[in-house]
Amino acid sequence: MSDMTFTMTDGISAVYLITIILFIYGLHLMNSPATARNGNRLASVGMLIAIVATLLDAGIVNYTLIATGIIIGSIIGASFARAIQMTAMPQAVAIFNGLGGGASGLIAISEFMRLNEAPDTFTMTLSITIVLSILIGIVTLSGSLVAFGKLQGIVSGRPIQFPLHRWISLLFVILIAAVGSSLVITPNETVFFVLIAACLALGILLVIPIGGADMPVVISLLNSYSGLAAAAAGFVLENTVLIVAGSLVGAAGLILTRIMTKAMNRSLRNVMFGGVGGTSESKDISEGDAREPAREVTAEDAAVGLAYADTVIFVPGYGLAVAQAQHQIKQLANLLESRGVQVKYAIHPVAGRMPGHMNVLLAEADVAYDKLFDLEQINSDFSQTDVTVVVGANDVVNPAARETVGSPIYGMPILNVDHSKSVLFLKRSMNPGFAGVDNELFYKDNTMMLFGDAKDSLNKLVQAVSEED
Ligand code: TAP
Repeated sequence: MSDMTFTMTDGISAVYLITIILFIYGLHLMNSPATARNGNRLASVGMLIAIVATLLDAGIVNYTLIATGIIIGSIIGASFARAIQMTAMPQAVAIFNGLGGGASGLIAISEFMRLNEAPDTFTMTLSITIVLSILIGIVTLSGSLVAFGKLQGIVSGRPIQFPLHRWISLLFVILIAAVGSSLVITPNETVFFVLIAACLALGILLVIPIGGADMPVVISLLNSYSGLAAAAAGFVLENTVLIVAGSLVGAAGLILTRIMTKAMNRSLRNVMFGGVGGTSESKDISEGDAREPAREVTAEDAAVGLAYADTVIFVPGYGLAVAQAQHQIKQLANLLESRGVQVKYAIHPVAGRMPGHMNVLLAEADVAYDKLFDLEQINSDFSQTDVTVVVGANDVVNPAARETVGSPIYGMPILNVDHSKSVLFLKRSMNPGFAGVDNELFYKDNTMMLFGDAKDSLNKLVQAVSEED
């Protein structure tokens, strides 16, 4: 007769299964901005349950130390998350990825120390998982710290490459493979520290040659690595929930990386090894230009076109985040709708500086999700649109991506705002966007430029439209 006793281990496995279902369903809900918040909550509940279940497990040695860590970590994490500016999100994600990778690395280090103290516990499988965990975790840690430094302006945002860079990186890969293989056969403390140092160096070497505009792609890739590092740590600890959660993060990060490279018309290989990528430094393209000057308008003039339009599309971009003008854009949209204007928002997949940047901003202002349209959904609408208002966007509407072979952004899918009957740009100057590429659209006959900070310009437009009878 089979033994039907339900053990503590069975209980924990059952709870882990529930948390895994919560993670997967939570991720599924993140498919749409309308359900994303609930998805986040559900996944957080799953994580809380996983932590509690793990703490009830028999292997816990020191509850006081864990409680202290949780309290300190929660205070730091919560205050960091509250204080972080929307525009600094990419570096926040970078630092979180790094800490995730570092945590997985620390788990592997402590397991190695245990193994060293009790050599009879040695198995080749355990050794392999420890080496992999160190490799992915520590490369993620140092790579993410470099990414953070670049985005925060501590290290130059430009791609940095020194002579024989790739060869030196390759040398480190060979060194890691050699010391890693030796550790799998015989654990040795000195060799182990060589492995850690080599992984730290490799993370730096991999990220330092990547430039400004490509950084968000790298961050997404490092996010995927941090998941893989957690999964590797899960194998070290033989913890199923860590393996599954890490794999989910790894896969989600890879999918996101793929979406971003596709939206920028770049290959991942090109991002990682191309050594190119613009920086946020911009130049004034109007200097010494023989073209007709761009047509500058006042808020009052622009308001007339908006107030009497049938259809208006707003195209938000990075400048909306800089100006924190999400509430003002909604206010203007509401005002226009109250006058019978049909209003939509066009969201480019890489508008802003991080995936979903515009969705997050507009959600903050409670813009209805059914008014947001992505590139494929809205591109055919521009030709029937009276006014397209481009709020702090540039590269994602630059026709050079469609027309100028050889342009750094050539081939990137764009929002066809130039097809609309008129275009109103809200920006501070004639400066180009992130890619540093001149935008011919500024000089077209049906384009108007309203210069100023996006929040101020939108406030002025709200005022001027409300004065139209
Ligand atoms: P950008 O092309 O960077 O243009 C932003 C524009 O906003 C600039 O022309 C700037 O002009 C204006 N601006 C800045 N501050 C402003 C303010 N306070 N008020 C009004 N305007 C302001 O932005 P985009 O169109 O959103 O394109 C995103 C770029 O980032 C693309 O090149 C994309 O490939 C890159 N990128 C994005 C991602 C993700 S995931 N989003 C990832 C990697 C790379 P002024 O200085 O004249 O005001």
